[in-house]
Amino acid sequence: MDMREIIAQALNKAAKAAFPEADFEPAALARALEIPPDPAMGDMAFPCFALSRQLRMGPPQIAAKMAGGISDPLIERAEVKGGYLNFFLAREAFCGGTVENVLASKGHWGAGTEGEGKTVCIDYSSINIAKRFHIGHLSTTAIGHSLKRIYDYLGYRTVGINHLGDWGTQFGKMIAAYKHWGSKEEVEQGGVQALSDLYVRFHKEAEEDPALEDEGRAWFKRIEDGDAEALSIFNWFKEITLKDADRVYDILGVTFDSYAGESFYNDKMDRVVDELKAKNLLVESDGAWVVDLEPWGMPPCLIIKRDGATLYATRDIAAALYRMDTYNFEKCLYVVAYQQDLHFRQVFKVLELMGYEWAAERMQHVAFGMISYEGEALSTRKGNIVYLDDLLRAAQEKALAIIEEKSPGLPDKEKTARQVGIGSVIFFDLFNSRIKDIDFRWDRALNFDGETGPYVQYTYARCCSVLRKAGEVNAAPDYAALTDDEAMALIKLLALFPEAVRDAALRSEPCALTRATTEIAKAYNKFYYEHRILTQDAGESAARLALTCAVKEVIGRGLYLIGLEAPEQM
Ligand code: ARG
Repeated sequence: MDMREIIAQALNKAAKAAFPEADFEPAALARALEIPPDPAMGDMAFPCFALSRQLRMGPPQIAAKMAGGISDPLIERAEVKGGYLNFFLAREAFCGGTVENVLASKGHWGAGTEGEGKTVCIDYSSINIAKRFHIGHLSTTAIGHSLKRIYDYLGYRTVGINHLGDWGTQFGKMIAAYKHWGSKEEVEQGGVQALSDLYVRFHKEAEEDPALEDEGRAWFKRIEDGDAEALSIFNWFKEITLKDADRVYDILGVTFDSYAGESFYNDKMDRVVDELKAKNLLVESDGAWVVDLEPWGMPPCLIIKRDGATLYATRDIAAALYRMDTYNFEKCLYVVAYQQDLHFRQVFKVLELMGYEWAAERMQHVAFGMISYEGEALSTRKGNIVYLDDLLRAAQEKALAIIEEKSPGLPDKEKTARQVGIGSVIFFDLFNSRIKDIDFRWDRALNFDGETGPYVQYTYARCCSVLRKAGEVNAAPDYAALTDDEAMALIKLLALFPEAVRDAALRSEPCALTRATTEIAKAYNKFYYEHRILTQDAGESAARLALTCAVKEVIGRGLYLIGLEAPEQM
């Protein structure tokens, strides 16, 4: 049971007893419970102001009437203060009960079954063919991967989709470039970098020789027409890109259930166009076909270009229909940069106009801000690009150097450096609300003392070390030993963890979990500095060890849910 539930139950009982005529919605009362800024004011507080009108009574009077009816073994007392009813938990029962519940969940504290029978599609990472994986694609990858783990944890079926950018005239140009200047060996060896070099060269040479553009177009036409040679080269480019990306995915532990990208929808375009026509939604504009969105304050959504080609939006409309048919999703999330806000609003609106009401209710653009590196904006044009594999390699090296210095005797330093280095990057990306821009800085990401991945991982390793040193303890825990302020503050955070999991899912904000896990780590360290874990008193020691074990499991789970590994030693 989580903390809000404990108090909400007692509150609802008391509210019913005090106002038998009133028709309260139990969930609404539960939601209104607040955490007071100062724990001396109570562990949770119920503001009575909103009920004042309905009950025709002053908030303090309402609070007083309900206070009399609070009776629960987990609640010590309820005090009236102004218009608030402040709850104080019975520390020993609450702390002991929570620690035991956490341990009984066997590493699954806060997991749920509310998602059973429901499917969530998550479109994330969605890289582009023939482009190297750079840090502009870090956020979508990290956020999407974390959301997938969070929804899995709540019992949903999740479908991770890498909607590959594998369609467009640029691929015709790539083939033309390859035919002119490329060689099989070079591309095999150089990988995606070789491909993007060819592409850059194409643009340079095309400035001198415009005929190249025609060649590019001709090759693209051949891809479109299913020409064997064109397709085999194109598919080979795709393979090379994915092999490169897989290296990064492996390092990050990221997986997908589907790689159906833009080209997957080639044979599904007619349905979209026919349906739009049949529903009288297509209008001609300058030889192109569009859906007018003026009444909703948006520019028209371009469906077919003048030359007959379909567009990014057309493909996203087809993809949405396909996903609904195939997965019957409860939600479809698009983890894509904020810049594509208009694109998704247009696509969702067109689907709605087509009569698919679910588009408005079930599809969501999970937008995120821009990333810069050490204070500098990234730009392909200016040549200021940071590739993700370079960044991750540097992270491991830097972590290794720190570990060599701090704990030279550590066994398997490479493994720990990998966990800490990679973890520091993901954690940094997921620490703030996703819409905020991120400036990636090494001194912040890898700081062992701040609110960072290494700090939380270090706390996890500290718990492991305490438990290792204690060995087997046979005494029954005496939970009276967990009633001090530090233990209480820590255990309250454990009791709120299940709420953080749900909050993260509801708002598509992994940072809710990053924060909750960091707060637990901070509170444990505070507890650790104030109290000895192993004392002369066996019952006391057993209780503090049980708490340490519970903290270790919850931190480990929190790290997992945001996509980090948890090192046992650091
Ligand atoms: N490939 C696109 C990009 O890199 C992102 C695709 C996002 N997903 C989608 N269904 N449109 O900008």
